[in-house]
Amino acid sequence: MKIPYLPLRELNERFTVQDEQAFKRVHASGRFIGGDEVQLFEKEFAGYCGVSNVVSTGNGLDALTIILLAEKQLGNLPENAKILLPAHTYIATFLSIAHAGMQPVPVDVTELLLSVENLKSQIDRVDGIIAVDLYGKLVGDEVYAFAKAQQKPIYCDSAQSHGAINASGHRSGCLAKASAFSFYPTKNLGALGDGGAITTNDSELARVARQIANYGRENRFKNPLKGVNSRLDPIQAAFLRNRLLILDADNAHRVAIAQRYFNEMTNDHVRLASADFLAHNAVHVFPVFVLDRAHFQDYLAQKGIETNVHYPLPPHLQEAFQELNDLSFPQTEYLHKTEVSLPCHPLLSDAEMSYIINAINSY
Ligand SMILES: Cc1ncc(COP(=O)(O)O)c(C=O)c1O
Repeated sequence: MKIPYLPLRELNERFTVQDEQAFKRVHASGRFIGGDEVQLFEKEFAGYCGVSNVVSTGNGLDALTIILLAEKQLGNLPENAKILLPAHTYIATFLSIAHAGMQPVPVDVTELLLSVENLKSQIDRVDGIIAVDLYGKLVGDEVYAFAKAQQKPIYCDSAQSHGAINASGHRSGCLAKASAFSFYPTKNLGALGDGGAITTNDSELARVARQIANYGRENRFKNPLKGVNSRLDPIQAAFLRNRLLILDADNAHRVAIAQRYFNEMTNDHVRLASADFLAHNAVHVFPVFVLDRAHFQDYLAQKGIETNVHYPLPPHLQEAFQELNDLSFPQTEYLHKTEVSLPCHPLLSDAEMSYIINAINSY
């Protein structure tokens, strides 16, 4: 049996008919920047996330950077602001802080994500926080409550958690002061190219972010700010509208797969996250932790099972962040040494699941 990690072509074939219609709509509209499709997607995604504003962007990295630039412009973050973030994240979170002219202050994670404990060591020396819903799991409500009590603005890198719902029924995108989404094709809500969005209930922040994303302009010939060009293509907005309609069903399927892994995997060499992993999670990635990672991945590859790693080298140890290379975060470094991502997507069949679980149990 051949089981790909993520069969992007097949996942997108589900939308062939709707996408052809979307393409025709955009083609016939004559509007290839902005226009109805972008406005409708922003409105529909705002409704879905339960926020009053969505500002679409060219990608997720820009969404994060623009949130920080807008907050600086509004005087809510100083020049060179120190921004606390989890060491265990994709490098984009770190890069956004650097691109906004600010300083990343990484802290270790508790199991997988930021906890109040992690925040405590640095909270007094930072100006703001970026939480990251890594693997699709929402950062706990207590982290937001702690940030609020400490009067520090908290933003969220929601690039992996589209649709995840917390204990009080609120969706990813409405829990922080502003959240950044990526619509990179492999995401739970993925486009057929790059795309991103900022969600926020703060209308001033949304207004300035929209201005920054569009050359810093107020109108066609007036530019009060040194902005950037980062806009969601209308064709991608039209494709995303099709995909948003089944995001909840897709996420439910991912959670069911994750539940089966938890119920049926019994190999002591393959460590699972704690059972709490399944709560408030869109399960973008299903991680396991294996000390002999390369050997385990080779074994599965020989059985036709493709796996992935999120991620092999943490941002603070990358050459791009040489100034952070001396820092040490034991839990983060353990995760980066041992993590293996198993196939977990809405088209995975029961038979394929059984095959993967059998292969892992006999490892
Ligand atoms: C956690 C995280 N943050 C930010 C990004 C950046 O998104 P994009 O690739 O759309 O710029 C990604 C995705 O690649 C991500 O996984």
